[in-house]
Amino acid sequence: MKDRSDLNAAAGFAHQSVKHESAHLHVTGRADYTDDLPEPAGTLHAALGLSKIAHGRITTLDLDPVRAAPGVIAVLTADDVPGSNDISPAGHGDAPIFAGPEVMFWGQPLFAVVAETRDLARRAAALARVEYEALPHFLDPIAARDGGMDYVTAPLTLKRGDVRAGMAASPLRLEGRLNVGGQDHFYLEGQIALAVPDAEGMTVFVSTQHPSEVQHMVAHALDVPANQVVVNVRRMGGGFGGKETQMNLFACVAAIAARQLERPVKLRPDRDEDMSATGKRHDFVIDYRAGYDKHGKILAVEGDFHARCGFSADLSGPVTDRALFHADNAYYYPDVELRSHPQRTNTVSNTAFRGFGGPQGVIAAERIIEDIAYALHLDPLEVRKRNLYQNGQLTPYHQTIEDQILPRIFAELEASADYAARRQAVLDFNAKGGVIRRGIAMVPVKFGISFTATFFNQAGALVHLYTDGSIMVNHGGTEMGQGLHTKIAQIVAEAFQIDLSRIRVTRTTTEKVPNTSATAASSGTDLNGMAVLDACDQIKARLLAHFATAKGIAPDQVQFTPGHLRVGDEEIPFADAIRAAYMARVQLWSDGFYATPKIHWDRATGQGRPFYYFAYGAACAEVSVDTLTGEYVIERADVLHDVGRSLNPAIDIGQVEGAFVQGTGWLTSEELWWDAKGQLRTHAPSTYKIPLASDRPKIFNVALADWSVNAERSIKRSKAVGEPPFMLGISVWEAIGHAVASVANYRIAPRLDAPATPERVLMAVERLRS
Ligand code: MTE
Ligand code: MOS
Repeated sequence: MKDRSDLNAAAGFAHQSVKHESAHLHVTGRADYTDDLPEPAGTLHAALGLSKIAHGRITTLDLDPVRAAPGVIAVLTADDVPGSNDISPAGHGDAPIFAGPEVMFWGQPLFAVVAETRDLARRAAALARVEYEALPHFLDPIAARDGGMDYVTAPLTLKRGDVRAGMAASPLRLEGRLNVGGQDHFYLEGQIALAVPDAEGMTVFVSTQHPSEVQHMVAHALDVPANQVVVNVRRMGGGFGGKETQMNLFACVAAIAARQLERPVKLRPDRDEDMSATGKRHDFVIDYRAGYDKHGKILAVEGDFHARCGFSADLSGPVTDRALFHADNAYYYPDVELRSHPQRTNTVSNTAFRGFGGPQGVIAAERIIEDIAYALHLDPLEVRKRNLYQNGQLTPYHQTIEDQILPRIFAELEASADYAARRQAVLDFNAKGGVIRRGIAMVPVKFGISFTATFFNQAGALVHLYTDGSIMVNHGGTEMGQGLHTKIAQIVAEAFQIDLSRIRVTRTTTEKVPNTSATAASSGTDLNGMAVLDACDQIKARLLAHFATAKGIAPDQVQFTPGHLRVGDEEIPFADAIRAAYMARVQLWSDGFYATPKIHWDRATGQGRPFYYFAYGAACAEVSVDTLTGEYVIERADVLHDVGRSLNPAIDIGQVEGAFVQGTGWLTSEELWWDAKGQLRTHAPSTYKIPLASDRPKIFNVALADWSVNAERSIKRSKAVGEPPFMLGISVWEAIGHAVASVANYRIAPRLDAPATPERVLMAVERLRS
């Protein structure tokens, strides 16, 4: 093992700003991603052949030219799958590895070529002769509904009170439709899998957030028990939800080929194929109605959430459920009814993406607030404050709010961002009537933490204490850049009171910790941190008991002190104590386990406590918009975000910044566009624009609510951070709307659809001017 003492010079216990465990490897290019692993001798390379029709039946599939191409070793189709030709995550049976004879979307894999090199495989794949009989296709959820397409999974309704009566009794009412676009994950490291067969099984190295799922999918595809498949991942170059299920395809194809040929096979699609063949954030069309009073208080809300799910269920059930769970964002709706419409479409099957449907719910709540504010000529922030939940109130899913901290967050952010004065300055600036207009908005987020499928809220760990006092930690979570392994190491360092450099978190592998959940729902640290702590506590208890007995003293006379074990009056260096314990035959390793308490959820009744707690935050964004071109810049953003007692403020701030910028990208420049034939035309960075470094807010102040403590007994009273701040990007979208509205003197709600690309902004300006 390399000397890791350079990694983190200072002891890094929980709550300290320690740098990411791989930061120095990332910046020096030495961090190994799946594609960097040495390829075993004889490794072959696969490429996928994708469909070129949105919906149809294959009439001819002539793969002879592919087989005859130079370097080709094999060509695989559905007939070559030894087990089940299905990679649907929840066993829906609707997601074939290789499609046929029916093709459900443009870009669906039909076959794979295995060749001596990746380049030869890709060239060969292009030689297939495929003919189709076209069938009608539906690309967007409304067209699909009107065309009689079914749901991919059962819809959900959340209701409380009587929305019809509430609406009828409301003095004022509004309604509207909001179109919200999807988003490509654009992980910098694309999908990749390397399958290595041997006489006893299959080892798969894959960029995945969900090793256990890959294990099961590969086992099903090969028709072998799960114990013959080992899945490993050291790190991902980003996942963002795009590697929660989408890697199954690549892992299964590589494994099927590897088994058939008894040689290692690697599959790494290029960016265009990756974007065409893998699912994205769900686009939504949201029809909303709201009743309210003249003070801007919301009385009733009704919403229909139509989602573009794509051709199969994938995770669309829980994603569209979560859209409803967040359609209140932070506001109390006295009477409410929310309905999901998980619509099947002839597009790639949409999947998890940071926020998991939550952002699409939150943006609907913020649209309603905005509509009310414009109708009443109020500052939207005022309307927000009047509708914030109070402790004791019930959400649409009947969970009681107990930990509301948004009033304090708003108050502090209003002060630190100088909101009132800056809003006035924006109004004064716009009153001059120039081409450039300014806009400002302050938006909160309340995000529920836990997997809504309660059984996923469990985690395991394995902690090894070696006789030299160094520690190897394993847990079920995966590292995708979010800093999970760093936080876990800090937790262990603190537990044993030893320097962080003594701790190594190794790759995630199904060999060490089985039956894991995806690293998702922002709960990686919450779940795995607790499981790791459980393992540490067991080892510690054994050490305490051993030394107490050996010295004939009370257990509380033995203590872990920095770098030492204090036994009575004696301070024994940690490594010496561990060595002594080993000689006395004390077990120096342990497993650990955790299951989140208190949560339960009954989907049939739409009631329960799906979330252990809520994470809160708010952002204030100011933009300037060029009303002649529709272009805009983010002049300033101020964020105050709640992570409870931060396990690592530096990493948490990085998560907040990254999430904010990614959320802004979703709502501004990132536009997915399908042509009339159903081909995704935005399948590369040339046509799909993620935010650049130059697109970040010119002034960007991110702070953590350092006074916040998780009211629940979470890991060290911290809160999950991965997804919640994503929704703070909505502040930018609303600020753009504010600038746009100025051209009609704020009399009309801007009603921008998302993403608010410069074209859309320009069209909104023109609409409001006329
Ligand atoms: N941060 C980085 N750098 N890369 C990622 O892929 N994924 C996000 C978030 N932050 C992601 C990230 C998503 S979608 C989730 S659910 C969480 O990290 C998952 O990790 P956690 O549960 O450990 O926070
Ligand atoms: Mo995150 S969308 O839960 O992987």
